[in-house]
Amino acid sequence: MISHPDKAYSRNPAVKADAHSTLNAGAQFFCIGDDEKHGSFDEPAWFAGASRRKEDILALLKIARMGHPVLLRPALPVESPGAPEIASLVQDMIETMLDASGAGLAAPQVHHSLRLFVYHVPAARRDDGEEALAPRALINPVISPVGEERMDCVEGCLSLPGLRGVVRRHACVRYEGWNERGEAVSGEARGFHANVLQHENDHLDGILYTMRIDDFRSFGYTDELTRENAT
Ligand code: NI
Repeated sequence: MISHPDKAYSRNPAVKADAHSTLNAGAQFFCIGDDEKHGSFDEPAWFAGASRRKEDILALLKIARMGHPVLLRPALPVESPGAPEIASLVQDMIETMLDASGAGLAAPQVHHSLRLFVYHVPAARRDDGEEALAPRALINPVISPVGEERMDCVEGCLSLPGLRGVVRRHACVRYEGWNERGEAVSGEARGFHANVLQHENDHLDGILYTMRIDDFRSFGYTDELTRENAT
């Protein structure tokens, strides 16, 4: 369950608030950025060191915002998941995602219409019983639901800065694909992990989370929703 403490959401009985989510009261979900981005998330130890390119230059990619046609276009399969240019793109996307305090970023969002995305599960955002996951890539993913259970998720997106809304997602999914080293990866995901996978995979099919919102009363500017929460 992706939950949120805001009263704006807790009025919806389907959205559960829990103790963990209070940590995220001012934080953002998914690929949305915020003003506290430098230092507000737990940067994984590996990122600060060895995985940085030698020249230590951040390669921040331009992010397409809602309205740009690249976000509506079904992306093309990656022909060689282990190719050096894909590894380079993955590295740049991870840097861009972390700089923006995002939890996920899909290639079409950075103007590459390819079926790959990067994501992580920060410790502060994981659900109960869920493991934090370091940033990683999933290339040519296949995401399929496991079981019938659904969950309501509070989502934002770097391509719709400042906005968030509630989307109903599968509570558990199976994922298959490749990493940037050309190795096959697969597994099952629940909670925030499952939420991120479904949100990012939608980007590869030209679907934004707003297209899945059932109740637009849950949709709005994060600062306005937070303001309501504060009163
Ligand atoms: Ni997004």
